[in-house]
Amino acid sequence: MNNQSHHKSVLTKESIENLITDQNGIYVDATFGGGGHSYAILKKLNKKATLIALDQDKESIKKNWIEDKRFHLFHNNFIHIRDILNRNHIGKVSGILADLGISSLQIDNPERGFSNQLNCILDMRMNQESSYSAQNVINECSREELFHIFYEYGEFKNAKKIVDKIFKKRFKKNITTTSDLIHLFFIKGSFKKRKKFFARLFQSIRIEVNNEINILKNFLLESSRILFPGGRIAMISYHSIEDRIIKYFFKKGIIINKKKLKTLPFRMIHKKVIKPNIQEIINNPRSRSAKLRIAEKNL
Ligand SMILES: C[S@@+](CC[C@H](N)C(=O)[O-])C[C@H]1O[C@@H](n2cnc3c(N)ncnc32)[C@H](O)[C@@H]1O
Repeated sequence: MNNQSHHKSVLTKESIENLITDQNGIYVDATFGGGGHSYAILKKLNKKATLIALDQDKESIKKNWIEDKRFHLFHNNFIHIRDILNRNHIGKVSGILADLGISSLQIDNPERGFSNQLNCILDMRMNQESSYSAQNVINECSREELFHIFYEYGEFKNAKKIVDKIFKKRFKKNITTTSDLIHLFFIKGSFKKRKKFFARLFQSIRIEVNNEINILKNFLLESSRILFPGGRIAMISYHSIEDRIIKYFFKKGIIINKKKLKTLPFRMIHKKVIKPNIQEIINNPRSRSAKLRIAEKNL
């Protein structure tokens, strides 16, 4: 086994310790990224166990592959998890981990256009084969669509003002780079306030580009179908929209905008959400917004 990525995995000990209930079982790492969580899972498993890992980003797969007979990595979206398992003659699994969002490998690469700290082409596609990028969102979405993106995914009360600025600019010239976008906004106040504004702006566009909310909802439903009773699911999220969806589903069996399930699929194994401790935040400031929730499939 090797692990070469510069992405620092988040809440590794807390998630893996609670995830593994059968050391000979079949596990899924739905968001392989830099491979840190997969590596830690493999370390805990016996020789007979299997780990299925997925990532929709080809680069992560190419750069961080783990040489291990128990390990099987697929370039795919985790929304297709049931299909992938079926194709590999697997019906049910003992545990699923998903560490949502993007990795440092993606944020720090200027060609990927995820970072508001770097001047680069607006892109933000996790899957480089997708034909829908941040440029399409900013230059082609209607007023209503953009309003929805900034209001729902960025939780901006003043979403209309943001849309107006984008429309005024794109009427004259397409907005193609991260600095084209950033220069549209003058944010009064502290550096912290500015930082927060752009983080939320970029986050909301990224969620739209990668259809992250719909995919998360479907993934939770699929997970409840592929886990053995007693099997566990560990979900790490980085913003309140995702955390709310996960919490609601684990607690009440309800996916927002979808029908309530007849029986409650999961039971939360911790009442409170798990967050990184201060030492982890000092070592890895990007972990500061992480929230881990773990649930067990009901019998
Ligand atoms: C936070 S990183 C995961 C880091 C990883 N846990 C580690 O230890 O290095 C999230 C990864 O999930 C991938 N990803 C996000 N949404 C996905 C989806 N719907 N399907 C497949 N991969 C996804 C991203 O491309 C990214 O590589």
